Amino acid sequence: DDKTSMARGSLIVLEGLDRSGKSSQCAKLLSYLQSNGFSVEAWRFPDRTTGIGQMISSYLLNESQLDDRAIHLLFSANRWEKRALMERKLKSGTTLIVDRYSYSGVAFSAAKGLDLQWCKAPEEGLIAPDLVLYLDIPPEKAAERGGYGTERYEKLEFQKKVAEYYYALRDSSWEVVDGCLKMEVVEEKLRELAMNCILKCQNGKPLVNLWS
Ligand code: TYD
Ligand code: MG
Repeated sequence: DDKTSMARGSLIVLEGLDRSGKSSQCAKLLSYLQSNGFSVEAWRFPDRTTGIGQMISSYLLNESQLDDRAIHLLFSANRWEKRALMERKLKSGTTLIVDRYSYSGVAFSAAKGLDLQWCKAPEEGLIAPDLVLYLDIPPEKAAERGGYGTERYEKLEFQKKVAEYYYALRDSSWEVVDGCLKMEVVEEKLRELAMNCILKCQNGKPLVNLWS
């Protein structure tokens, strides 16, 4: 039997409060890795392009109302509908840089008062990130940054609660990076952490599922 198999890609997730700089840093990390010859793609959740994603988007824009548990399960379903593709990409050697994942799913819903374990349950069996890059920024500072938009959740008091739940969810895959540092400094730290992670995955670190 042929034992040689292609080195797998890494699942690298960026997490943090709204306006913590995730999206800009995802874009920078993507182009850095691409220009260094890696096979890499940028993903984001919610993925607003799917049918479920459109329901989520209309909820976030306050164009529709949904029960807290119903929207929680839609966010989760939005990740489940991408799970098979995610696994194929990783196994074929592509690294995924993902803007938000299950940690956002749980932190935002728990901040509304839903039970933490209940919130985690539908995430069980999704692919566990190899690395979570958490951009740490005080909620007050995030609120000052060009202000929040008008989407649901973009309010200081709520973001403070979200920050507490993120804190409770930290695990061994997490690297907390100070999001208040200069953009270039954050960028450099993320590059280094991502490169380390990619090498570990290439060297046989196994893919596992949440939450284990
Ligand atoms: P966001 O990353 O802000 O999307 P965009 O940059 O397109 O505005 O995500 C939208 C909001 O959804 C954000 O406030 C976090 C929240 N969210 C959840 O409540 N649950 C989830 O599972 C995810 C992925 C995001
Ligand atoms: Mg937003």
